[in-house]
Parts: sequence; C-alpha cells; structure tokens
Amino acid sequence: MSRHFRVWRGDSSGGEIRDYDVDVNDGEVVLDIIHRIQATQAPDLACRWNCKAGKCGSCSMEINGKPRLGCMTRMSTFEESETVTITPLRAFPVIRDLVTDVSFNYTKARETPAFSPPEGLAPGEYRMQQIDVERSQEFRKCIECFLCQNTCHVVRDHEENKEAFSGPRSFIRAAELDMHPLDARSDRKEYAQANQGLGYCNITKCCSEVCPEHIKITDNAIIPLKERVVDRRYDPLVWLGRKIFRR
Ligand code: SF4
Ligand code: F3S
Ligand code: FES
Repeated sequence: MSRHFRVWRGDSSGGEIRDYDVDVNDGEVVLDIIHRIQATQAPDLACRWNCKAGKCGSCSMEINGKPRLGCMTRMSTFEESETVTITPLRAFPVIRDLVTDVSFNYTKARETPAFSPPEGLAPGEYRMQQIDVERSQEFRKCIECFLCQNTCHVVRDHEENKEAFSGPRSFIRAAELDMHPLDARSDRKEYAQANQGLGYCNITKCCSEVCPEHIKITDNAIIPLKERVVDRRYDPLVWLGRKIFRR
C-alpha cells in the first residue's frame, strides 16, 4: 500500500519538508521507509542508523513531532490515511537531512567527574552486594539515543541554557555514580546542582516519557539527587558539622 511521507531535507544553511509517496509492507518500521526512499527516490537522503534493533541509539529523529527511534516505530502506530512527517532532532544542530550533531552530549559526558574508587584498592578486594548492583542497573540500560536531551524544554528551544545545563542523560550518570558504594567522591549531588544545572530541572518528566529504555529518569535519578541536595543543605546536623569543620 502506498502512503504519504514528508521528510525534512537540508543542511546547516536551511532546508524544507519534501513529499514522498512510498509503498509500506506489513510489519515495517519508519526506518524501513527511509531506506526505501533512499533506494528508490532520494539516494542522497542522509540518516544515521546502525543496529535496527533499538540498541545503538543512532536512529533518533522526530516522527510527527515526537522524538522517537526510527527503527522501533512501527508503521502500524499510525492510521493508514495519516501522513507521517519525519524531521531531525530539534535541540541539536543539523548536519544534513535527518543527521544532527549530538556532540553537545559528549561534551557534557566528559565534564562529569569520572568514577574514582578508593586509593590502593586492588582488583578483587571488594565484592559489590547484589542490592547495590541492582540500584544502578536501570541507568546502565541507557543507549545514548539522546531523545531525553532533545525533549527537555530547558534546552529544546533555549540554546543559551546549554552551557549551564547538562541534561537528563548526565543526571542519570551522576545518580548511578552517586549510588556506587566504591565511588570515593561524596559530592556528586552538589556537583550536579552547582555544575550540571540540576536546579534548572522542574521535574516535567518529558525526558522519562520518551526514553526507549523506559528508564525512570525523573523518579529514580533526578528527584533522589534533588532530595539529597536539599537534605545535605538543610539538615541541621550537616549544617553544624560544616560550620565546625570549615573553621
Ligand atoms: Fe536515550 Fe533514555 Fe539514555 Fe536518555 S536515558 S539517552 S532517552 S536511553
Ligand atoms: Fe527536563 Fe526531564 Fe527535568 S525533561 S525539566 S530534565 S524532568
Ligand atoms: Fe540502532 Fe535504531 S538503528 S537504535
């Protein structure tokens, strides 16, 4: 059956939405359609993808305005008469067609202080408890698709916030390290608040809604980080201890 698609074509200097009528077969996903457009109508259509299994995080795009993975969005999601519009991620600069420059996210990842085990601890000297493994397991499912980063309103239409805001992907990394029993840095949450822009997040949960790995970014990473910042800042014993030991 032939269906109507609209695809953004262009580069950093500008572009336009172009129309394509494409045959769709049962069981196909949006990435199949992009490949068919490349094979039959527009061999120069640029699109990033790799695994076609929802695990590499490369094929992030916006489909009818919603951030999604092209390889995990079945055509049966849409009404047969519905036009499907495919555009690049909005929060990142376009390189060409559906390919965006996501280096912002790698810059922020590099800024996050690395895991730092206690000095002198040799391999095999410490066994992690299963409960500690499980607490951060959810965050390690991240495929770095950056749909959460693209969705968050703090940067989606606010380029000026990018320097001060690392985004939900960085917050789950901060939470994961904060929960690690061997991480010697005890200031992960203060760092997130002061250097990663945790305070910009007003818990809209849009990031959690688009995560293809169903990571509860807001409930399990951001809110606990925020709560622990508040605990440490306003706990009278912590406050007193700081006063005494900073003298
Ligand atoms: Fe993608 Fe989810 Fe990881 Fe964000 S947290 S980059 S949405 S997998
Ligand atoms: Fe943004 Fe997620 Fe917070 S969408 S505002 S980081 S809850
Ligand atoms: Fe790997 Fe879609 S191609 S997640």
